[in-house]
Amino acid sequence: MKIMITYKMDTENVDWQEVHDILHEAGLSDFSPEEQKVIFTHSTITVFAMDGAKIVGVARALSDTLSQGAIFNVAVRPAYQGLGVGTNMISRVLEKLKGQNVIIYTSPAGVSFYERFGFRRCKTSMCLFAGAPEHLQMLENGGFMLPEGFRFDGEPSRKV
Ligand SMILES: CC(C)(COP(=O)(O)OP(=O)(O)OC[C@H]1O[C@@H](n2cnc3c(N)ncnc32)[C@H](O)[C@@H]1OP(=O)(O)O)[C@@H](O)C(=O)NCCC(=O)NCCS
Repeated sequence: MKIMITYKMDTENVDWQEVHDILHEAGLSDFSPEEQKVIFTHSTITVFAMDGAKIVGVARALSDTLSQGAIFNVAVRPAYQGLGVGTNMISRVLEKLKGQNVIIYTSPAGVSFYERFGFRRCKTSMCLFAGAPEHLQMLENGGFMLPEGFRFDGEPSRKV
């Protein structure tokens, strides 16, 4: 059976419970359905991959519309992974961000996926993550974030 996926770029009639479930399942976000509505409706660009009325993938970006953009919360339901859905969502988001610098922080597993679109690792990008110490430790253990005070070989160490 051939699956026909369509890509919805607006936030009208979105089932926020489904958005919550996809991001929760992917381990990317634990905000409630009501909070996901706030998060996505305040984003500059949204994309929802739809199998009929069912959401099977989500992605969003923040942008000043001219110079800088940032992509977040990219996830595809496991049963729909490997079918080109993630590629189609990112291509649509990047089309909207054309001409702008685009940043993304991804899970270690996502690095190769984003390299396909031309993304490169950055040596000096830094994140100030919100959350309890356990959450920050989880990000460090998961390989998202380098240890506090980390320096690459040859870099000057911290003054204080
Ligand atoms: C990463 C993710 C969004 C990719 O979506 P997808 O729909 O499965 O990807 P596609 O089907 O478009 O894959 C395109 C290509 O990238 C490859 N690919 C998919 N996920 C990959 C990954 N994590 N690492 C490396 N390559 C990957 C596919 O094998 C495919 O290769 P092919 O063209 O040679 O067949 C999806 O697997 C996912 O939701 N993962 C869990 C959440 C996550 O890690 N999100 C990224 C962090 S923000």
